[in-house]
Amino acid sequence: MGEELRLPIAADVDVVEARQQGRALAAVAGFSSGEQTVIAAAISEIARNILMYAKKGEIILSLVQNGDRQGVSVVAIDQGPGIPDIERAMQYGYSTSHGVGAGLPGAKRLMDEFEVDSVVGRGTTITMAKWRRAI
Ligand SMILES: Nc1ncnc2c1ncn2[C@@H]1O[C@H](COP(=O)(O)OP(=O)(O)OP(=O)(O)O)[C@@H](O)[C@H]1O
Ligand SMILES: [Mg+2]
Repeated sequence: MGEELRLPIAADVDVVEARQQGRALAAVAGFSSGEQTVIAAAISEIARNILMYAKKGEIILSLVQNGDRQGVSVVAIDQGPGIPDIERAMQYGYSTSHGVGAGLPGAKRLMDEFEVDSVVGRGTTITMAKWRRAI
């Protein structure tokens, strides 16, 4: 353990970097190539949201262990505008930026754990994790 990566998100290249680092950490945790792609895709969506809505923030990637299960934890933090109605934001098709509105629900579906904490005017924290399937 002890593997923790703090990645600043403030430009498009940072989204690419977070995606790649997430993929690499998932590989270290023993996830299959397909699962690595899934984790990278979820990271990419929440990183894109940081850029789009908060302009900047941070993604923290770490390896986690629960009993004999290994996983990857992803925490995305920003001090942006916050989300006024989280339930609504989690619905597919809801977008305040003429987007598809698939980012948050998509990331939730891709991961095993997904939690949004947001305070208007303060910012948003998204915590998600994926666990390796038992072999
Ligand atoms: N970090 C954030 N800070 C503030 N609002 C956010 C943040 N992330 C998401 N939101 C809000 O939640 C809505 C839904 O996000 P979601 O990622 O699902 O869709 P989208 O970004 O609008 O479109 P896309 O399908 O391109 O991702 C956003 O339109 C925005 O209003
Ligand atoms: Mg989005």
